[in-house]
Amino acid sequence: MTRPTLIAPSILSADFARLGEEVAAVEQGGADLLHIDVMDGHFVPNLTVGPPIVESLKKVTKLPLDVHLMMTNADAFVAEFAAAGADYLTVHVEACPHLHRTVQSIKERGVKAGVTLNPATSLSTIEEILPDVDLVLIMSVNPGFGGQKFIASCLQKVATARQMLDRINSRALLEVDGGVKVDNAARVLAAGADVLVSGSAIFSSGDYAATIAALRAAGQPASAHR
Ligand code: DX5
Ligand code: ZN
Repeated sequence: MTRPTLIAPSILSADFARLGEEVAAVEQGGADLLHIDVMDGHFVPNLTVGPPIVESLKKVTKLPLDVHLMMTNADAFVAEFAAAGADYLTVHVEACPHLHRTVQSIKERGVKAGVTLNPATSLSTIEEILPDVDLVLIMSVNPGFGGQKFIASCLQKVATARQMLDRINSRALLEVDGGVKVDNAARVLAAGADVLVSGSAIFSSGDYAATIAALRAAGQPASAHR
């Protein structure tokens, strides 16, 4: 089965003083989703943005908002992020002891539910919830910062997650986040990813559209590259 490759620029590496322009540029450049990293200073050692930024971005872009919650208490914020306009809300299994309840609470609000795991967390922790989710996010760096190096051992995890989803005929998207660049995108896609999150590779490039196109083209057979 051929699946379309989706590209989700992470605004973490955008110029926050010009955020609206940056989002417009990746939207015009062919992005499929907008990845918004929410960090709470507890679950990860960094602070970023909250519901007001999601609400503001919702007004200026048609891209689906893919909100990645790196928070210890995501449950307490699901309603607010849903009201702000999140299209996908993705939570960390390490931070959600009642994951089934969290996923149901996201879906009850009409938002697509995603689950994600840190590099050292086993896929076995999401096996039971897989039939209920709309997105599985495999972290390929330890979350907290943009611009980190891709952890190559995560490729096997992506391949295994693909098998697990296919085995239950799941239509959930398989997303990979962290250190994804033009030079490793082909391997990530070959392992079975549907969605590539990419922050620094896109926003530090001079031409967002060209970088987005190159990331997407990495999923095509070599003969289709030119
Ligand atoms: C890391 C974030 C990522 C990050 C990706 O904690 O979840 O979304 O912004 O940035 P790059 O592509 O630079 O690794
Ligand atoms: Zn992220």
